[in-house]
Amino acid sequence: MSTYTIDTATSRATPTPAPGKRLTAPAILARKGGEPIVCLTAYTMRMAQLLDPHCDLLLVGDSLGQVIYGLPSTIPVSLEMMCAHGAAVVRGSWHALVAVDMPFGSYEGSPEQAFDSAATIMKETGCAAVKLEGGEAMAPTIRFLVERGIPVIGHVGLTPQAVNVLGGYGARGKSADEAKKILADAKAVADAGAFCIVVEGVMEEIATKVARTVAPPIIGIGASAECDGQVLVTDDMLGMFERTPRFVKRYDDLAARIGEAAATYAAEVRDRRFPTADQTYRPKA
Ligand code: KIV
Repeated sequence: MSTYTIDTATSRATPTPAPGKRLTAPAILARKGGEPIVCLTAYTMRMAQLLDPHCDLLLVGDSLGQVIYGLPSTIPVSLEMMCAHGAAVVRGSWHALVAVDMPFGSYEGSPEQAFDSAATIMKETGCAAVKLEGGEAMAPTIRFLVERGIPVIGHVGLTPQAVNVLGGYGARGKSADEAKKILADAKAVADAGAFCIVVEGVMEEIATKVARTVAPPIIGIGASAECDGQVLVTDDMLGMFERTPRFVKRYDDLAARIGEAAATYAAEVRDRRFPTADQTYRPKA
């Protein structure tokens, strides 16, 4: 399947993951109110390797549409993209639970369609859970999947796949009606059997209320420090983009550092300071 043991003597791209025991959906569920759950997005093998020792959950988010493919939203993301990146992340990790987003159009049609798509994702990637967006309307689908052996992460509040209905990516829960709906959505998803729920882009007060009210752990993104865990898009928190949402904290400025490294390389190539004797093959003396 997807857990490779590869001889690294000839390949720098696929070092063998250290053996270990992966976190499971019940282990994450049991973290409600306990040690905060650490989650980051990952889309590639190497990034998964780097993040895995520090994370409980690695999310192969459909945000890869914008981050990796330069798409304008998550809507064009396909099942094939999610499977390819999901398998890479599973290959690069050994400790965190890997969850893969179900892309737009792969699950909303019916519970049966959702099951087929989720089963494809799990078979092709080796991941241990899927995430899907939506509240009360998706609760029967979540129940259908969970009852058939598929651990599900819910996602309520700002649901980017619904951007055309929501009218943008602004924070949710500003009106009393919206706040009530977010709480009802979270409760429905929890009752349907989701083992944790992402709450994205909602007013702090309502996110706190959700975290205090529903049984499974709430993983916040632009939500509340009182959530049971936090998730960020890794490229955002590493400073890969000029513009990031308000809720992102930049822990590095990788875009600038990559630019500097590329500029140094370019200058050295142009004035023939690279390669040197250290980087060329010569007969042994
Ligand atoms: O697609 C994604 O990366 C996500 C997170 C932002 C939660 O859904």
